[in-house]
Amino acid sequence: MVAKNNLCVLILAAGKGTRMKSSLPKPLHTVCGFPIVSYILKAAQALNPAAIGMVVGHGAQTVMDTVKAGLSSWGISSPIVFAEQTDLSGSGSAVKAALPLLQKFETVLIINGDTPLLRAETLQEMINLFKSTQAGAAVMGVKVPDPYGYGRIIRGQNGTFERIVEESDADAETKQITEINSGMYVFNSKMLQTALSQLTPQGPKKEYYLTDTLYLIKQMNQQVLVYTGSNYMEALGINSRVQLAEVEQILRNEQRNRLMEEGVSLISPKDVYADACVQVGEDTVIYPGCYLLGNTRIGRNCTLESGVYIKDSVIGDNVTLKMGTYIEESTVEENCQLGPYAHLRPLSVLKKGAKVGNFSEIKKSVIGEGSKVNHLSYIGDTQMGAGVNVGAGTITCNYDGKNKHQTIIEDHVFVGSNVNFVAPVTVHEYAKIGAGSTITKEVAAESLGIARARQVVLEKKGVKK
Ligand code: UD1
Ligand code: CA
Repeated sequence: MVAKNNLCVLILAAGKGTRMKSSLPKPLHTVCGFPIVSYILKAAQALNPAAIGMVVGHGAQTVMDTVKAGLSSWGISSPIVFAEQTDLSGSGSAVKAALPLLQKFETVLIINGDTPLLRAETLQEMINLFKSTQAGAAVMGVKVPDPYGYGRIIRGQNGTFERIVEESDADAETKQITEINSGMYVFNSKMLQTALSQLTPQGPKKEYYLTDTLYLIKQMNQQVLVYTGSNYMEALGINSRVQLAEVEQILRNEQRNRLMEEGVSLISPKDVYADACVQVGEDTVIYPGCYLLGNTRIGRNCTLESGVYIKDSVIGDNVTLKMGTYIEESTVEENCQLGPYAHLRPLSVLKKGAKVGNFSEIKKSVIGEGSKVNHLSYIGDTQMGAGVNVGAGTITCNYDGKNKHQTIIEDHVFVGSNVNFVAPVTVHEYAKIGAGSTITKEVAAESLGIARARQVVLEKKGVKK
């Protein structure tokens, strides 16, 4: 076990998120392919706290289910303690809903659940500052170019913290203040509990503001620190679709820069979209309009032409993906070539050096080493060996209206054009299939399978001259 400190992190994610105008709870909206809340959980875990709590309320069940299901794919191994806020009457009452958890700890870090750009290092610095003093609380403040919508930090004459005034309660002079509350706080747990019990409803919506606890702690003659964050972007809160898009832009840009720093060439960086976990090897070149999503890993020295879409897939070294190739939940080994306009549906595997060309669709199939499916084919539920050549327009008829069946095509089979394989069916190694055949029976090794009507030529039945 790693040594734990006596710190509890509490994430507030119960709010209605009204300004998003969405049926999806705000914490589950995605940025760079992952839910907002996953970024906050990652930062929380990196602090190695003794416990992580999350307050849920609006869409509670959906939020809890999605978080529980997503944890391992987000790299979160810490258990999450959920607390349910039923009244949804402000950030202060959200924290009250988690009192049974907070009471067990000396120090509590509280984070709003809508600031995905926050960094664990910054939070750690604020905690360190707090711990180096006898303060009752600390709040992260930053200066922002546009403070609209945020709570403003009011400082007294000697520069010390006085209180926070929310946008809706601010007069014209207060609205000029550009130092805002980032929504990240450290509290002495006991003082927080005392302050919470003294909160009264405030503002036009009669809410219990967590921010008022800072004022109340100050009233108890305790010090309240303002930790000044160096990068205001970390404090950007997502309240609307416009803010969601702004944060998305920032994070997308970070991913582009990261990939380039790792040795990947982006021909037009702004036109490449890579999710936060995507890995790409050195000397791979990516043309405009490519999407690399989810848990995708791409090797070295690959070329991704325009319009390539890859989700949750692994691509080996020296692979060429020509324009418009679409790959989902599949594996492509080294030296393969796909496209233009090839489609790999989930659970497809292309072994080394395989080729899948224009308008070919592969589903839940293995295409063996060096095998080719170059033109206008559908290969589904198929195990294909090495060195197979599949002629244009070949179809595996894998579905009988009720069930799916397997097609097995062994090594070095040659399939002529426009062949149908009616599954289940096996073609053994080195067999040849005549063009235009509909194969319904097993074809033995090294034999010729042919299944089509013989051509007849009837005399004088042509068009009259
Ligand atoms: C809040 C702060 C504001 C700060 C800003 C930073 C308060 C009163 N104001 O304003 O000073 O500048 O964040 O981004 O806290 N929540 C609940 N239950 C509720 C209401 C909210 O859990 O009943 C959660 C939300 O899910 C959200 C967080 O608390 O994660 C903040 O709520 P939000 O409505 O976004 O507050 P802001 O108006 O942005
Ligand atoms: Ca907010």
